[in-house]
Amino acid sequence: MAARWEARADLVVVGTGVAGLTAALRARELGLRVLVVTKAAGDDGNTRWAQGGVAVVMEDQHDPGDSVARHVEDTLTAGAGLCDDAAVATIISDGPAAVRRLRDRGAVFDAKPDGRLERTREGGHSAFRVVHAGGDATGAEVERALLKATVDGRVPLLENHVAVDAVKTPLGAVAGLLVLDGNGVPGVLTAPAVLLATGGLGQMYQATSNPSVATGDGLALALRAGAVAADVEFIQFHPTVLYTGRGARGRCPLVTEAVRGEGAVLVDATGARVMKGVHPLEDLAPRDVVAAAITRHMAQGPGGVDDHVFLDATALHDMATRFPTVHAACAAAGVDPAVDPIPVAPAAHFACGGVVSSVDGRTGVTGLYAVGEVARTGLHGANRLASNSLLEGLVCGTRAAEAVAADLAVGFIAPARAVDAVLPTAPVADRDMLQRVMSRYAAIGRDAEGLAVVGSVLDVSTVDKQLESRELVEDAALTTAARALIAAAQQRTESRGCHVRTDFTERSPSWQRTQLVRLTPTGQPVLADPVLADPVLAEGVA
Ligand code: SIN
Repeated sequence: MAARWEARADLVVVGTGVAGLTAALRARELGLRVLVVTKAAGDDGNTRWAQGGVAVVMEDQHDPGDSVARHVEDTLTAGAGLCDDAAVATIISDGPAAVRRLRDRGAVFDAKPDGRLERTREGGHSAFRVVHAGGDATGAEVERALLKATVDGRVPLLENHVAVDAVKTPLGAVAGLLVLDGNGVPGVLTAPAVLLATGGLGQMYQATSNPSVATGDGLALALRAGAVAADVEFIQFHPTVLYTGRGARGRCPLVTEAVRGEGAVLVDATGARVMKGVHPLEDLAPRDVVAAAITRHMAQGPGGVDDHVFLDATALHDMATRFPTVHAACAAAGVDPAVDPIPVAPAAHFACGGVVSSVDGRTGVTGLYAVGEVARTGLHGANRLASNSLLEGLVCGTRAAEAVAADLAVGFIAPARAVDAVLPTAPVADRDMLQRVMSRYAAIGRDAEGLAVVGSVLDVSTVDKQLESRELVEDAALTTAARALIAAAQQRTESRGCHVRTDFTERSPSWQRTQLVRLTPTGQPVLADPVLADPVLAEGVA
């Protein structure tokens, strides 16, 4: 089916999370005609669910001895040898300015009576440097402030429009975006720059901290447009979502790591400490270590295979005021954290890899930009440091808008006529089946046999379909993302960061390298040669 309607802009931003709205607002300041498009409502993205906060070392308010250099060091340690050092340094150094800009846009952070910001601590951080809002409602406040600024700034927001494909010129540059409107009618948003800020893909698993919109759409769209992805095997599982019973599905309430940062400890049904002796930082070890330790503990639990442990926060005095979101979720589940240990389990949380992008959002496809969780800048490596993602969205969102403006100014990108604005066909697997096999065989603890099972199940059950509805776009994206993950995870015969193999349990020095994925012309994800595959990578990714 061909496109039946058209709108024009200089820049189309896909997604209304922190990265997308920050980019849109900055682009507007720079005088660009911006259009923001989202498949749901403006505030339906992942940002609003973020709890912990923004990791940042402000010049005038930090722990004694803390510094940007130490924040960089903690990020590199958490990333388990796969971060891009230069990306880490530049994004983290830009943090204080990014937080100042966000506050100027109206976001209100929790502050002490003297005006200095409250700070908490999360796993992998060597200091209290996570600033927060509304106690544990940081994402909600960031989203509120940015959406308000977007509306106040009259940046057009097209809700209930799902991005299907980049449309391109005969020479392969982006000329716009093919979308389906709320009635499923295809149209083209003609623009020389399309910025993907579509977030993650937690819905690839049965239980996740992510909302229903997190289906990997941007990753699949970018791959179909010819971009390259990297580090897709590294899916971070948050150690503690609220356990609400066997067989939880969809978005599970998060129990922020800051609860452990402020004294809570993980225990099993017998009261024994889960993290004792596992890591020098115990309950505040990096997230991959804690999630894997809980998974092992559950498998070896005194009652045989178990599916949750407990977070003992009974020693914390002010849960209801300090962590109102967590407290409310516990109350809804009949748990009083002042008295009862909170039942918790790991769940899919964050895609550490994504579309290979510079810290300015440029991908290997002219006119296609990516920021936030959909992008792989090299900040996260094999395991993201807690609360570095809002930071990345703020810093890289601003930079991407500036990159688009610069690319337009020098004529590197320019308005052009699109070819081929017809709905594409792509491989689609059944979502329920995909979630089941991914959760069973490709979560924490993978092996060759299980990964092969996922590969075969996806191969036999995938059917090519025209992407004529939001559901099909999402299912195709989940299928592509899952196949990309399986290809990369099968190849990586070691355990590193969030990629835990039960048949290759050690980290291997020969695997201290990133793996790239691209699509074949038939839409099959395959591993790609790092040097040939992508100009952004050629500039220095390990
Ligand atoms: C949390 O609050 O534990 C999650 C924060 C994050 O994922 O960065």
